[in-house]
Amino acid sequence: MAHTPQAKYRKDYTSPSHTITSIDLVFDLYDHNTVVTARSKVKQLKQDNVLYLDGEQLKLVSLDVNNEKWTRFEQLEGGIALSGLPEEFELEIVTEVNPENNLALEGLYKSGGAFCTQCEAEGFRRITYYLDRPDVLATYSTKVIADKATYPFLLSNGNRIAEGELDNGRHWVQWQDPHPKPAYLFALVAGDFDVLRDTFITKSGRKVDLEIFVDKGNLDRAPHAMTSLINSMKWDEERFGLEYDLDIYMIVAVDFFNMGAMENKGLNVFNSKFVLANEQTATDTDYLGIEAVIGHEYFHNWTGNRVTCRDWFQLSLKEGLTVFRDQEFSSDLGSRAVNRINNVRIIRGPQFAEDASPMSHPIRPEKVIEMNNFYTLTVYEKGSEVIRMMHTLLGEKAFQKGMKLYFERHDGTAATCEDFVAAMEDASGVDLGQFRLWYSQSGTPIVSIKSDYDSTEQTYSLTVSQHTSATHDQQNKQPLHIPLDIELYAANGQPIELRSNGKGIDNILNVTKDKETFVFEDVSEKPVPSLLREFSAPVILEYDYSDEELTFLMVHASNDFSRWDAGQMLLAKYIRSNVNAVQTGTEIELPMSLIDAFRGVLLSDTLEPALIAEIMALPSHNEVSGWYSQIDVDAIATVLKATKVRLANTLEDELSAIYHSLKDVDYTISHEAIGKRSLRNIALSYLAHTELGNSLVEKQYFSANNMTDTIASMSAANNAQLDCREKLMTDYSEKWQHDGLVMDKWFALQGSNPAENALEVIKSTMDHTAFSLKNPNRTRSLIGSFLNMNPVKFHSITGDGYQFAGEIIKELNTSNPQVASRLIDPLLKFRKYDDTRQALMKRELERLKSLDNLAKDLFEKVNKALDS
Ligand code: TRP
Ligand code: ZN
Repeated sequence: MAHTPQAKYRKDYTSPSHTITSIDLVFDLYDHNTVVTARSKVKQLKQDNVLYLDGEQLKLVSLDVNNEKWTRFEQLEGGIALSGLPEEFELEIVTEVNPENNLALEGLYKSGGAFCTQCEAEGFRRITYYLDRPDVLATYSTKVIADKATYPFLLSNGNRIAEGELDNGRHWVQWQDPHPKPAYLFALVAGDFDVLRDTFITKSGRKVDLEIFVDKGNLDRAPHAMTSLINSMKWDEERFGLEYDLDIYMIVAVDFFNMGAMENKGLNVFNSKFVLANEQTATDTDYLGIEAVIGHEYFHNWTGNRVTCRDWFQLSLKEGLTVFRDQEFSSDLGSRAVNRINNVRIIRGPQFAEDASPMSHPIRPEKVIEMNNFYTLTVYEKGSEVIRMMHTLLGEKAFQKGMKLYFERHDGTAATCEDFVAAMEDASGVDLGQFRLWYSQSGTPIVSIKSDYDSTEQTYSLTVSQHTSATHDQQNKQPLHIPLDIELYAANGQPIELRSNGKGIDNILNVTKDKETFVFEDVSEKPVPSLLREFSAPVILEYDYSDEELTFLMVHASNDFSRWDAGQMLLAKYIRSNVNAVQTGTEIELPMSLIDAFRGVLLSDTLEPALIAEIMALPSHNEVSGWYSQIDVDAIATVLKATKVRLANTLEDELSAIYHSLKDVDYTISHEAIGKRSLRNIALSYLAHTELGNSLVEKQYFSANNMTDTIASMSAANNAQLDCREKLMTDYSEKWQHDGLVMDKWFALQGSNPAENALEVIKSTMDHTAFSLKNPNRTRSLIGSFLNMNPVKFHSITGDGYQFAGEIIKELNTSNPQVASRLIDPLLKFRKYDDTRQALMKRELERLKSLDNLAKDLFEKVNKALDS
């Protein structure tokens, strides 16, 4: 490593020395040497007249100030420093970049045959020297020049204001974006596409052109994205009163992309995974993912673009809030309970694991080396939970009042998390003083509850304690303001009115102390409590429920989420005791009462099919691992498998009846049909472990008329290691080998293959025609699944899984550090495993640490893990 990368601290924020009010860009696009001319109006804001501009991987061609060559500058690591400048001036910088060789997919690069850009967080500095920070907002005008035959579409932010032809077969288009924006929202695309067009009339009657650009031949895979976009625009008007603000909204789908999608003003660039879908190529999960991500990027137009972030430590200001908005969008359009369950699974699984890892950080980080490392589950998903808690404390009406005040105060500016909380507080009158700790404190609080019923006094009390353990980044923790949503039930299943101090109270308890007792009056029988309803705070709940209480809640809880959660808690009790049984060499046991409770769920005529499917889904190996400080990979896998096999064989008749009764559901993508397919396919995943499994699964594969049913059969064959697995995998690969995106599902199954020789197969799968380590989707599907979804093989005691991971990460370190840095996460958690595995995992981290070209991204994580 040339220099030790330097950390930046939130506390060190200073406003910029200069600002740039407008920038005029010209891109002369060529594969290997694109010339970028940037003319900016610069204004000095502070006494200091030295201007430091960020720049990386650039070739500087010329530098002029007020139309004269400027020599008073110095090339530094990561930028240039100009001195002797006037207070206001026009700066012209010409740089040259190499898009074809840009495998990091940051800045200007080529995806397939098209040019595209990715500037968040700090990619614009790979295009030109600039004040690449989100609190510098400029208006952009962009001229794009390229060969007309190869690149008929030339796109950038804002409105198309002029175009023309050049005599050498090249052409140009001039774009103008009237909304001032930070550099991270800049975008450019040039290529040849098929375009799906539509229009949207806003509530004030303006017409907006909608355009979705996809690779030629993919037009029949774009309609769902368009429907989702129109639904997003309508929903944001109805629920948040927010209208779109340009005359055109463009979405481009590209195959090479580091993340899901990017909200560039008026020109979103999307990973094609979150655009392309038809029933033959995409599963129901893909359809729902597209709806969510299209919504997410659209909602950023207000929460992110109109009000942006002052600095990158404030990332959750836009991401937590926008995730909250996309979750609400999906919940309003589909099943609220199913959406909540899936979001809670992410928090309880990977987010809790992140908080327990060396990368633990608050939703507003204090210290960053590489910003790309902080686009995390904590900033996004826990960030959304923090917004959701404010929504719970304020209620919808006051929350919307807060949103309105936030926009009145901050529209067109770069704001902070504190600005958001202050707007919510001022608009509602709710004191959020202690609540603010959620922004600065990392880690997962444990909330332990004890109950007591006093039959003579007819009172019921809940004593609530909270404790947050020290995390890798932070020693001392304080009590948080936790909204605790509860309900009490009488034996007949009816809710008991909550009364305290002689009057009725609502379901949300404000927990604020280390330990406190809430007393409820006029309770005439010992109730069953439903606690942390709707997962009202991102905490671990500890309450000593009996099996009877949990099976009671599975039937009687008044909301679907609580019924699911009771089922999860019941399973958790026996998964824990059975892991212990495996470790001590005793029999695995599942009581008949548990099996009967799940039988009751399968036979229920009040529960929606989608919800039955969720209740039947066992917790993942990753989620179960999170319950332990020392993870016994093999014991957990054994217990999860045994639980599945036992439920399958005892409930075979019920599962089989459900499976066959749902056979002839017509294929539509309505939420009702999706729910039925998910129930039928979870039934199949159980039946795969019974005697008839192999024939049922094979039959479903060859009769499926849609990708959801196809993949469900393949994944059942994979997990249960059925004889037909090979046949189905071969058939699928022959059919789809020319389509990388569709092959990703197949790569993911190879990655998570529990077979003994899985790693060997994975290594040879890397030679598959559809595979390339240069493509992040391919890499995540095959390698990412192996590292994250194949616990037994990845953690093989031979260490060959770790060694394989180390080699891949080493290779990606030089080509695509962002992807390398995401892949490394499971290795960082070495302290959770036994000594042998710890040593093997550490060896890989040490090897990476000693690389002399280690990227900042990996440097930050490897050092944190090894120093902890
Ligand atoms: N802002 C984007 C979103 O959440 C995500 C994003 C951040 C991103 N950095 C990126 C996307 C780098 C692609 C590449 O919607
Ligand atoms: Zn986002």
